Amino acid sequence: MTPAIEADKLVVCYGKLKVLRGVSFTIPAGQGVVLLGANGCGKSTLMRSLNGLEKLQSGTIRIHGDALSGASRSELRKIRQGMGYVFQHFNLVPQLNAFQNVLFGSLGRQRLGLLSCLSITASVADREKAMHCLDRVGMADRALHRPSELSGGQQQRVAIARMLMQNPKVVIADEPIASLDPKAGREVLDILWRIVTEEKLSMLCTLHQLELAQEYGDRILGMKAGHVEIDAPIAQTDIAQLNALYSGMTRVDAQPTEAAA
Ligand SMILES: Nc1ncnc2c1ncn2[C@@H]1O[C@H](COP(=O)(O)OP(=O)(O)O)[C@@H](O)[C@H]1O
Ligand SMILES: [Mg+2]
Repeated sequence: MTPAIEADKLVVCYGKLKVLRGVSFTIPAGQGVVLLGANGCGKSTLMRSLNGLEKLQSGTIRIHGDALSGASRSELRKIRQGMGYVFQHFNLVPQLNAFQNVLFGSLGRQRLGLLSCLSITASVADREKAMHCLDRVGMADRALHRPSELSGGQQQRVAIARMLMQNPKVVIADEPIASLDPKAGREVLDILWRIVTEEKLSMLCTLHQLELAQEYGDRILGMKAGHVEIDAPIAQTDIAQLNALYSGMTRVDAQPTEAAA
């Protein structure tokens, strides 16, 4: 079966700073992988690269067999349509209620503003689907609330419903619970992982809590200073190995310090 994500020797630079330094991994279809690593080690850069938002200096990315580099604009759009994103700060449109965020969410912000101004109505099928997606994340009773009237956990659940509305095959979740308290964070992870499992999606999800990483993921990808340091099934990792991702030179922009005399 074609893997969901194949990343081969990815190199990404910002000016002189080499952020991804030869990152390679494969995520089989249907696998949920937790991405770990200290701040500044290159996780978000990697996740943006997978969507074609970062220019690769070298390396190749394939999503369900389709290479990003060399893809035409319409091919790239098609690949991106199959990918759902969940962000730390939810990225809901504040002027729209939960239902509208889910219904129009995949259209992009600029078109969305125009559409809501013009009050263009969606099809009955799309409206029903949006309500169904809200129901899947336990938010149907908050459909008419705006983001400002919802807690952080509830906003993230709406964002997951929006992602689900898009029918993605691959989910990229960049620190989905980093802005939430532990209880809300766990609720969101439960929902996210349940949906990924039920829909047989593939996911790459950044987390900072090692115990949650071990509990939820099938596999762990650990990054340190732009490299993949750990790539192993959860059962084959131990907490000392995971903790080591956070010690020593972890950031890609860390300057080597001279050894103390
Ligand atoms: N757009 C950018 N321009 C310049 N440097 C950047 C940019 N985005 C990220 N960086 C740098 O790249 C490194 C990795 O950042 P990032 O991928 O956000 O790491 P992480 O998500 O693991 O915290 C950091 O040193 C950061 O400052
Ligand atoms: Mg990040």
